[in-house]
Amino acid sequence: MNTKTTVIDPGQLESQFGYCDKIAAFWQSQGRTPTAYVETYGCQQNEADSEKLRGYLAQCGYQIVQEAEGADVVILNTCAIREHAEQRVFGNLGALTHTKRRHPGQKIFLCGCMAGQTVVSDRIKASYPHVDGVFSTHHLWQFPEILWKVLNQKKRQFYIADEPGSIAEGIPQVRDSRLKAWVSIMYGCNNFCTYCIVPYVRGRERSRRPEDILAECRALAESGVKEITLLGQNVNSYGKDLDCGVDFADLLEQIALIPGDFLIRFMTSHPRDASQKLFDTMAKYDKIAKQLHLPFQSGSSRILKAMNRHYDRETYLEKVRYAKQVMPSLVLTSDVIVGFPGETEEEFQETLSLIQQVHYDSLFTFIFSPRPGTPAAKMEDPTPKEEKNRRFDQLCAVQNAISEEIHRSYVGKTLRCLVDGKDKDFLTARTEGGRLVRFRGEEKLIGTYQFITITGATTWSLTGEWSQS
Ligand code: SAH
Ligand code: SF4
Ligand code: F3S
Repeated sequence: MNTKTTVIDPGQLESQFGYCDKIAAFWQSQGRTPTAYVETYGCQQNEADSEKLRGYLAQCGYQIVQEAEGADVVILNTCAIREHAEQRVFGNLGALTHTKRRHPGQKIFLCGCMAGQTVVSDRIKASYPHVDGVFSTHHLWQFPEILWKVLNQKKRQFYIADEPGSIAEGIPQVRDSRLKAWVSIMYGCNNFCTYCIVPYVRGRERSRRPEDILAECRALAESGVKEITLLGQNVNSYGKDLDCGVDFADLLEQIALIPGDFLIRFMTSHPRDASQKLFDTMAKYDKIAKQLHLPFQSGSSRILKAMNRHYDRETYLEKVRYAKQVMPSLVLTSDVIVGFPGETEEEFQETLSLIQQVHYDSLFTFIFSPRPGTPAAKMEDPTPKEEKNRRFDQLCAVQNAISEEIHRSYVGKTLRCLVDGKDKDFLTARTEGGRLVRFRGEEKLIGTYQFITITGATTWSLTGEWSQS
């Protein structure tokens, strides 16, 4: 399903900067610095989009603040992956009526994946009159125009037309961290896993041009960033829409060749497209972290077929076997869904046995949540909720024991870790595989790589001692 990827014309983006100038001039004429708050739900893709929203806001003269109370602009960048995620947003959106009452000039926006669903925009139109603007991910690049219209025309704005999807290069970004950076290499998804809403709200798969990605990574490396995480719903199909002869493994290699002391991570890999070439490339370069997030979703080949995942249990296990063979220190994580419609106890046991066989470092575990408009939401689902909860608890217990066992095996090892922050009396650091380590040390170590000897372990994290060697 290759559609042609289009890049937003630089002239069109220029016109957005024109709106930024007009908004900045407006606030200057008011004689004060306006403030803005962006709240992010969902995955790293949304985190990366929020950095762009903050970039635009900064260019419009806004100061970024950490709470909605009193802010001139509030943006909720939302997630639609499960029902619970949407309920949280509607709850928080409701609460904003009070902040707006206390600060009547406040402008409230809803964007992100929920905004890509007409059921959501219809509900906002009808029942949330305090929301001033709604825009889907396809319209994020037009945010200055939307904000200008809200400020100027005093009219609610809905930018929710379903676009085939394009790419906007050159949106300014205010990054959350000076140490770690997200770099989106592609947007959207073509996979249509039967349970998943993402292809409907983020559109078709489209890849950024390799030269744009490389330029961004080069600039990040030069600015001293220590970790670059490449983002896409299915990074392994990178480049298929571009016909430029660069696949994901090639791109990884080119980024690994950029000079500088930094690590490269990426997510997410779809098991169908994860190739030996990818694993060989990971093994070849020290700069590529030996960490792989490879969601399996279910251990049952029948369920995988019903999910439209295009691989079976055996192919998945074979890929994991190869990856571990070429990268013995690989840290492997995954996503799993419990209680997909029609999942039997036997099929659930297959999921448990796969977990035990692979021995994941950690897992993101989910109970199936029907998403209106997806095929799985219409499938017969006779398993009671209590039974799904029981399976979920059992699965978590199995995984927690494995995580603890793997963490214990770290004790006594000395590892090179990136010191990335503070947590009460401890400094925090990440191993190459992304495991969290707490240790005592001086704050000046934050932002550097240090050797830490692991002295203790729990299911969730490691403790260690700074080793100067
Ligand atoms: N593109 C990634 C996943 C993005 S969504 C991939 O294909 O691996 C993150 C995770 O949310 C998925 O891997 C899946 O485990 C879970 N998920 C997605 N839709 C869901 C649903 N309807 N109910 C429960 N979990 C879901
Ligand atoms: Fe959703 Fe599947 Fe695409 Fe991942 S690959 S975003 S689970 S449709
Ligand atoms: Fe959620 Fe959208 Fe990410 S639905 S998980 S924020 S792509």
